[in-house]
Amino acid sequence: MNNAESAEQKSLIKMVGVDKSYKTKREIIRVLSETHLEVFEGEVLGIVGASGVGKSTLLHVLGGLDRPAKGEVFFKDQDIYRQGNSYLDRFRNIHIGFVFQFFNLLPDFTALENAMFPALIQNNNTAAAKERAEYLLCEVGMKDRMNHKPGELSGGESQRVALARGLMNQPDLLLADEPTGNLDTKASDQLIELIRRLNKEFNQTFVLVTHSQRVAGQLDRVLELVNGKVNPINQSLVI
Ligand SMILES: Nc1ncnc2c1ncn2[C@@H]1O[C@H](COP(=O)(O)OP(=O)(O)OP(=O)(O)O)[C@@H](O)[C@H]1O
Ligand SMILES: [Mg+2]
Repeated sequence: MNNAESAEQKSLIKMVGVDKSYKTKREIIRVLSETHLEVFEGEVLGIVGASGVGKSTLLHVLGGLDRPAKGEVFFKDQDIYRQGNSYLDRFRNIHIGFVFQFFNLLPDFTALENAMFPALIQNNNTAAAKERAEYLLCEVGMKDRMNHKPGELSGGESQRVALARGLMNQPDLLLADEPTGNLDTKASDQLIELIRRLNKEFNQTFVLVTHSQRVAGQLDRVLELVNGKVNPINQSLVI
């Protein structure tokens, strides 16, 4: 039984009737359409779906990064997009951790400095931020690469630094876009093991986008994004 099932399920973040399109010079690409999604406290939720279906877009809208054209996103009953952009900046920094599909690490800073960044934005104590960043980088197996800049790191190493950065402020929700995409099977299993441990020890909630059936099979619940809608997927077919 996972944490989400062991207690009454409490809604952490909920997307209701969201529409999101991209307008290019030639066309309008409808990505999310009347999309509903609810994430419960303490679960490790997987999102799967074909390339280009809108998984990254879904995570960005869910995490307060991309305002939808229509619909609401409620974080514990608070409609986050009702507020202005400075509220959203603060909301993300305090409540949400992101692991972006393409990492978005700052190239001029070391792995350690990148991981510390979310805490420094909050003006937290630098020594304490450094200590936590070092702890997290050790946890993701980056102990010997802390002083390397992103240009000197492999894709898998950058991805692990991005996970450490995402966890820096102990977010209520960690959104990770294909966090094992650049890892081999062993490193991927270790990362999922870490995610499961953080979930168990701290009741940390995760939403992971993945293309890997192996990863999806290790999560509490898996949803598939198809034609702008999120559907439950039969876990036994995933493994
Ligand atoms: N800024 C943008 N402008 C125009 N179109 C965009 C933009 N961002 C994404 N798209 C389009 O929206 C659709 C959804 O993109 P998204 O990146 O969310 O897909 P995805 O499911 O994450 O794909 P992948 O599995 O390849 O990462 C795609 O067709 C993409 O080309
Ligand atoms: Mg994507």
